[in-house]
Amino acid sequence: MDGQKKLIPMDAMPVTRQKTKFISVLMALFVFMYGWAVSFSWAGKYTDSAHGDKIFGVKRSALSAYGRGNCGHCHLQHGSIEGQAIGPNSQAIGPNSFGLFAPNYNTNVTESPYEASDNICFLCHGPSSYQSGGITNYDYSKTFGGSSFVTVNTIFDAFNLKNLYTNSSYHDLYDIYSFAKNQGWSFFKDKSNPCVACHNVHLAKLIKHNVQNAADYSAVSLPVSKNIGNRQEGHNTLWGDDTDERMSELYPSHYQAPFYYSSQSTYEPGGVSDYTGQKMPDYVTFCTACHNSTNEIYSTELGRYLRKIDWYTIMNDGDSAEVYSDKHGRNPASVIIYMKKPYVSTVGIGRDINFITSCTDCHEPHGSPNPFLLRSEVNGVIISQQINIDDNTIGYFCKACHKDDAALYGNSSLTNKWEGVHHIEYDAPYPRQHCKTCHDMGGGGMGGKPPIPCLKCHKHGYKDSLSGRICF
Ligand code: HEC
Ligand code: HEC
Ligand code: HEC
Ligand code: HEC
Ligand code: HEC
Ligand code: HEC
Ligand code: HEC
Ligand code: HEC
Repeated sequence: MDGQKKLIPMDAMPVTRQKTKFISVLMALFVFMYGWAVSFSWAGKYTDSAHGDKIFGVKRSALSAYGRGNCGHCHLQHGSIEGQAIGPNSQAIGPNSFGLFAPNYNTNVTESPYEASDNICFLCHGPSSYQSGGITNYDYSKTFGGSSFVTVNTIFDAFNLKNLYTNSSYHDLYDIYSFAKNQGWSFFKDKSNPCVACHNVHLAKLIKHNVQNAADYSAVSLPVSKNIGNRQEGHNTLWGDDTDERMSELYPSHYQAPFYYSSQSTYEPGGVSDYTGQKMPDYVTFCTACHNSTNEIYSTELGRYLRKIDWYTIMNDGDSAEVYSDKHGRNPASVIIYMKKPYVSTVGIGRDINFITSCTDCHEPHGSPNPFLLRSEVNGVIISQQINIDDNTIGYFCKACHKDDAALYGNSSLTNKWEGVHHIEYDAPYPRQHCKTCHDMGGGGMGGKPPIPCLKCHKHGYKDSLSGRICF
């Protein structure tokens, strides 16, 4: 059954029932929008999208009249179907923006936990789904990293981890909404949905069924316009689907894909043999469309503006790395680094220093049991310890890629101790003397007291004045 043939042209569809004034208004609005839609480049590509897909696409249990993939599963075309109202919980049909079957987004809720009714996406992408058979979406660590640790089953869960994990984090939807609106992006309207800042709901492809070709089947669109060659990328194109929108192209031969879970021979995304990032959407360009060195971004959860991130600048003079910009970005690390595989020359891209990493090598896009959207599986390793922001537990995260003392000295009793890279090894930043100058920073001296909280120094864009080094 071809749902598409039934639905187009939409404005020719007979309105047979319940011609209230309300519905006429909605219909007029929707017909207007349809005219608008065909002038957009997504119009023809909807059938390739996850929602328009003939096998996996939208199909609400309550709507037997419409074929799978039909726009009508999200947009009201009749106001009611077979005498049944289509709103949530059979409520009276409200005049929803964009002619949607439920309110698009509730701007009154500024923080999680969210209710499913706060966002139309959650009505299908949540535990009690309107979609026939329901929808499962795991997090990035599981879907692309192969983690055996299930933290969430749906997108709704990913944004609602607060009640389950005290140190969890998520992309605050209200902050995204406010930020997007203030940017003046033409596609983002007053009544728009914050998910739409990152996704074009009419284009997003089925990435979860194609994890090893995550780039070809990208689910995201850039919120800003960007000229690539002679084409323009933005909200009305997918980001990552073209070969020059991959991590391998961002900074050629400097991206090393992290290991897939418990593997020493396959890589992200999804356990591929390629380790150069040819299969990875360029998520750096994607995330830095918002998180760059100029945008002011407010976080309700953190109660402050976010630090700015410069992933691109490389200085050319001798002491380049310590001038500005993140070393996990294009800026090289200083002198020598003590890394675990595959960030060593004997495997992968064959270099020992001067890598670029992807934001998604460390971060989840939606929510995480850890602070700062930090992944629960990194470089093939599950981070099972609780990560706090004010002690050394974040070291368990760093040691998925970096050598702690246990790895440097082959002694497991030194797990998550970090004396080697700070005091002992070649190019360590701090002489081991006048201990109190530093080891009182955390509120305790040495003698068995806690080590210095890592995040005092290791954060995006931070330069430590004691050593003069860029610390991240
Ligand atoms: C009527 C139900 C429904 C609604 C409402 C809905 N979706 Fe979906 N969505 C689906 C279905 C069905 C799929 C494909 C299912 C599958 O196989 O995982 C899907 C897939 C996706 C994908 C593709 C990625 C993937 O591999 O799973 C994205 C991205 C997505 N939806 C985003 C959204 C956003 C954003 C909204 C709200 C603006 C939304 N959806 C609202 C039903 C819905
Ligand atoms: C998965 C649910 C879903 C499906 C299926 C869907 N839409 Fe939409 N559509 C939305 C949402 C949500 C918005 C609001 C976008 C925003 O928040 O800015 C929207 C907005 C629109 C708009 C106005 C703004 C824009 O983005 O262009 C038009 C026109 C439109 N849809 C037409 C269609 C047509 C035509 C189809 C079928 C070919 C369709 N939609 C299928 C969810 C859907
Ligand atoms: C800040 C950007 C951002 C926002 C906001 C965002 N997403 Fe995503 N989303 C992503 C990225 C990046 C991916 C691709 C990686 C992945 O699949 O985890 C993704 C993937 C997805 C997928 C596919 C997941 C899978 O199984 O792989 C779905 C479904 C989805 N998003 C729905 C939503 C919904 C619904 C919302 C709003 C409640 C939303 N997203 C908000 C960035 C975002
Ligand atoms: C996904 C792997 C990965 C994780 C996780 C990771 N890093 Fe890194 N880190 C790297 C890579 C790769 C480099 C080298 C970058 C380069 O060579 O330009 C690096 C470089 C650095 C540098 C620069 C060192 C120098 O000599 O200039 C510091 C400092 C650093 N990381 C600290 C941390 C801390 C602290 C954590 C934990 C919060 C962490 N990293 C987590 C991959 C990772
Ligand atoms: C559309 C703009 C936009 C895009 C694209 C975007 N973000 Fe954000 N991000 C925000 C806003 C707004 C906030 C502040 C709200 C908050 O703290 O959740 C934020 C907050 C964050 C935080 C701090 C969350 C916390 O509470 O600790 C992290 C980490 C983050 N983003 C990572 C990412 C990563 C990684 C990507 C790419 C996958 C990304 N962002 C893409 C807008 C964006
Ligand atoms: C200029 C700052 C500075 C001075 C001075 C300093 N340290 Fe450190 N030291 C650090 C930093 C930073 C770390 C890494 C964070 C941590 O583990 O506490 C560290 C780590 C250590 C560790 C590993 C602790 C652990 O659990 O990971 C030991 C042991 C240590 N230092 C001993 C000393 C001793 C003994 C002295 C004085 C003789 C000293 N340090 C002086 C900055 C300093
Ligand atoms: C007082 C500031 C400070 C604190 C606190 C601190 N570090 Fe560092 N750390 C540094 C500096 C400076 C460097 C050297 C960066 C460079 O080489 O340019 C460094 C380097 C590193 C590196 C990269 C080593 C390499 O291979 O080059 C890692 C990993 C690291 N620290 C982890 C940690 C962890 C984990 C903690 C908490 C237990 C911690 N640090 C606490 C300042 C600090
Ligand atoms: C090597 C791991 C790693 C990579 C790669 C990485 N981050 Fe982070 N990110 C962290 C850690 C650790 C923190 C917590 C410390 C801090 O706030 O900087 C963090 C914090 C953040 C924050 C919150 C900043 C604040 O003000 O508290 C944002 C936003 C963010 N990251 C975005 C990004 C973006 C965008 C990228 C890619 C351009 C990226 N990150 C790449 C590890 C990483």
